[in-house]
Amino acid sequence: MQDLDANGITDAVIEQMAQTPDPRMREIMEAAVRHLHAFAREVKLTPDEWLKGIAFLTAVGQACSPIRQEFILLSDVLGLSRLVNVMHDATGREAAGTETSLLGPFFREQAPKIELGGSIAYASKGPEIVIFGQVTDADGKGIAHATIDVWQTDAEGMYDLQAHDPTVMEMRGQLACDAEGRFHFRTLKPLGYSIPMDGPVGAMVRQQDRHGFRPAHIHILVAAPGFRELVTALYFADDAHVDSDTVFGVSKSLVIQEALGLPDAPMPGIPSIRYDFTMSRDTAGGGGRVGSDPSRLVPAG
Ligand code: BEZ
Ligand code: FE
Repeated sequence: MQDLDANGITDAVIEQMAQTPDPRMREIMEAAVRHLHAFAREVKLTPDEWLKGIAFLTAVGQACSPIRQEFILLSDVLGLSRLVNVMHDATGREAAGTETSLLGPFFREQAPKIELGGSIAYASKGPEIVIFGQVTDADGKGIAHATIDVWQTDAEGMYDLQAHDPTVMEMRGQLACDAEGRFHFRTLKPLGYSIPMDGPVGAMVRQQDRHGFRPAHIHILVAAPGFRELVTALYFADDAHVDSDTVFGVSKSLVIQEALGLPDAPMPGIPSIRYDFTMSRDTAGGGGRVGSDPSRLVPAG
C-alpha cells in the first residue's frame, strides 16, 4: 500500500512509467513529471489555481484550428520555441552557420517566383529597399542556385493573409541565386506588428503587461541540396521593439539597417542591406523546427 506525501508522489508516478518501452519517451516523461511536480511544490499550487491553469490550456486548444496554432504561439511567447531551436542549431550540423530565427505562422508554400533584382511588392507601396548578398557554405564557397524564400509585412505592418483575401500572395517571393550563390531583390521596408492578441495567449501577454509586438523583420528561408534548411529573419535596428521581441526571435547577428552607398550594392540608388547567409551541411538528419510543422499553419489574421 502506497502512502504518498508531496514528495513520494513524484517517485510513485515515475515508478509506474518505468516500463515505457520507448527509452526516449521514458526519459522525456520522467523529466516532465519531475519538473512539473517541483514547479507545483515551489509555488505551492492550489486546486483553484490549477483549475485556472487547466481552463487556460483548454482555451488554448479550443483556439486552434486548421489555420491557427495557439499552442505554437504559447511556446513562442514563453521562449520555449527559441530554446528548442537554439539547442537544435547546436547539434547535428558541421559548423556554425547563420543564426536561425522563428519560422512564425505566416510562411506559405509556393510563393510567386521572382527574378534576381525583382520585387516582392507586387501591389503594396512604401519605401523601397534592396537586400543583396551571397549564400555560401561554411568555407565561404558560394552555393550555386540556392533558393531563397522571403516573406514579410508590408509598410503598414500587415501580412498578405491579414490585408487581403487568402488567394492573394503579397510581400513574399521565391528566388534562385546565381551560379556563385549571389542574390539581390527589392522589397519595401516592413513595419513591426503585434502577435495575434485576440486569443488566450494574447490575454495572458496583456495580463503580464507585455507589449505583444515583434520588431520589423524580413523572414528568410534558404534551401540547397545537402544543407540544413536555414530558417532565419533579419531584424531592423531602428525598431523600438528590437530589444524586447515578444517571441524572442532576435539575435545580435541578425540585426540590420538599410543604408546608401554600400560597396557592391547592385542598385546603388536604393537604400540597401548586405547579408551573406552561411549554410551548414546536415550531419544528423536535421529534423524540423518549432513552427515548421508539416502543415505550416497560418493564423486567422
Ligand atoms: C512572425 O514572425 O511572423 C511570428 C512569430 C511568432 C509568433 C507570431 C508571429
Ligand atoms: Fe514575422
